[in-house]
Amino acid sequence: MTTYFLGGGNMAAAIIGGLRRQGETDIHVVGRNAHKQQQLAADYGVAVSSTLPPLSAEDVLVLAVKPQDMAAATAGLDTGGALVLSVAAGLTVATLSRYLGGAERIIRIMPNTPGQVGKGMAGLYAPPHISAADRARAESMMQSNGGVIWLPEEADIHDIIAVCGSGPAYVFYLLDALQQAAQAQGFDAAEARRLSLATFEGAVALAAAADTDFAQLQRNVTSKGGTTQQALAVFEERGVAEAIVAGAAAAAARSREMEQQFAQAAGAAS
Ligand SMILES: NC(=O)c1ccc[n+]([C@@H]2O[C@H](COP(=O)([O-])OP(=O)(O)OC[C@H]3O[C@@H](n4cnc5c(N)ncnc54)[C@H](OP(=O)(O)O)[C@@H]3O)[C@@H](O)[C@H]2O)c1
Repeated sequence: MTTYFLGGGNMAAAIIGGLRRQGETDIHVVGRNAHKQQQLAADYGVAVSSTLPPLSAEDVLVLAVKPQDMAAATAGLDTGGALVLSVAAGLTVATLSRYLGGAERIIRIMPNTPGQVGKGMAGLYAPPHISAADRARAESMMQSNGGVIWLPEEADIHDIIAVCGSGPAYVFYLLDALQQAAQAQGFDAAEARRLSLATFEGAVALAAAADTDFAQLQRNVTSKGGTTQQALAVFEERGVAEAIVAGAAAAAARSREMEQQFAQAAGAAS
């Protein structure tokens, strides 16, 4: 019962870190970069190789190469009936099955990078024929990286990408904006970094502890005629919230577009 990773990059390392914290030892990474492979072996004590050994139905194969590398990486690959978990954006179960010679035991996972520190949020989609045991195995793997949500439809993957996959970048954008604001008020760069991080951490902890919606929490700290109200009035006037909603919609639209391109390319190749 080995968990194999095809591709040993950032996302593979994040998931492997979680699996190791969970106590899983039977992990094998197949990659093409000897230096990175040695690093993974040293960091996580995993087995590494440049080719995939024969798989059996008890094994799990995690596809963790970039979507554009998937066709080449899976060419001629025999899954041996193993459960296939793909973290690749833009590649549908149908496209992956075509790459894998008709394999049917495929679950899609859309993780995000906070999984590296055990604070990820992953969306999972399994076609209806996938067994409860296979679903449980995928869920357990991703719980080692943080939270999971099952998506009823494969198209929901675009929505989770728009919110959670790309979301950490939105938060870094806001952190950077608050850091810029702090520097504009005269704090040096290091202080500004510390102040913005602490403010985000504190506000998120408060929101997580409160059984109150976010808009109410915001009203709770906004006195009429006070300082916060002045700032929020500027955000409202400049449409900051609308811009974030529109940005996430643009990410989802781009995800749909990329999926179509890969599906067309896979169809043309087969
Ligand atoms: N990063 C994210 O935030 C995120 C979020 C959700 C999903 N994902 C998905 O995760 C997947 C991996 O992304 P990543 O950020 O981890 O990319 P990455 O760091 O570039 O890792 C991909 C790895 O695959 C290796 N590779 C490429 N072709 C191969 C082949 N034929 N055989 C074996 N290994 C091969 C690459 O080797 P080289 O080092 O030689 O290039 C690289 O180490 C993507 O499909 C992406 O859509 C990523």
